This record gives sequence, structure tokens and C-alpha cells, in this order.
Amino acid sequence: MRKEENYKWALKQIRAQIKRHIDLTATLANTAAILKERFPQFFWVGFYILRKDQLILGPFQGPPACMSLNLGKGVCAAAVKLNKIINVPNVNEFPGHVACDSRSQSEIVVPLLNKKAMIAAVLDIDSDSLESFDNIDIKWLKEIARLLKDIF
Ligand code: SME
Repeated sequence: MRKEENYKWALKQIRAQIKRHIDLTATLANTAAILKERFPQFFWVGFYILRKDQLILGPFQGPPACMSLNLGKGVCAAAVKLNKIINVPNVNEFPGHVACDSRSQSEIVVPLLNKKAMIAAVLDIDSDSLESFDNIDIKWLKEIARLLKDIF
């Protein structure tokens, strides 16, 4: 229940940011900060922006991360290729997982579409415990992705 409440709070804050949207970096930076603040167990929260055939590091909260990701490998790439949310309960068991930081144990990646329904970016959340993400996360992260559609 606490998780639902936290997401409800985060969604409200993110909606307020989007209402005041003037710049992609600024809105994404605050979105990452809102999620990180409300969910301290999120070890890394951030965005990778799709540019040609690469995902380039965007605004994030947490330790430094890989600056670019190849579309042929990893969880973020899989979310783009399959155009669906990828929930990885144990990153060590995901073939090709890109370990930007060895502390990361589970991960969820949400594709973000633009107004033309094309993938523009991904929201990536890492946790330092195993099996951190469930259907509640999926439900709310889908909502957040829906809100962010307006800014891409
Ligand atoms: N683990 C991701 C790379 C990004 S970091 O988690 C921040 C992947 O496999 O695509």
C-alpha cells in the first residue's frame, strides 16, 4: 500500500512538472529526482534518450552510469526492441545485461513514446536488492510514461 501511495504522490508531482514544461532536460531531471526522493530503495533512476542507433545517457539520479548503450545488448536495448516494459528480477540472470554499476541487482526499463507513438527514450530504474519490481511498479510506471508522452 505504501508503494501505491508513494507512486500517487510522485505522479502528482510529475504532472505538476509537465504542466510547467519548458525544456526536456529540465522536466526529465526533476522527474528522476521526484522518483529517487520518494523511493530511496531505487539505487539509480534515469533516462536514456534514443539517438540514431544508440541510447544516450540523459538526466538521472544515482551513481555515474554508462554514457551510451548499444541497441544490440542489455535491458534498455531489449525494452526498445520489443517496445515493452522489461522487469528483470535478477540482473545476473539476464543475458547481455549491461552492468554500469555492480551493485545493481534488479532493474525495470520502461519505453517512452513520443506524440507520434515512436520510442523516444527509456526510463530505467535499478535497485540494489533482488526482485524489487512488481505489477504495482508496472502499473504506475506506465502512467508516468503516458504523462511524459506530451514532452517528447
Ligand atoms: N543495465 C542497463 C544499463 C543501464 S544502467 O542500469 C544505468 C542495461 O542492461 O541496459
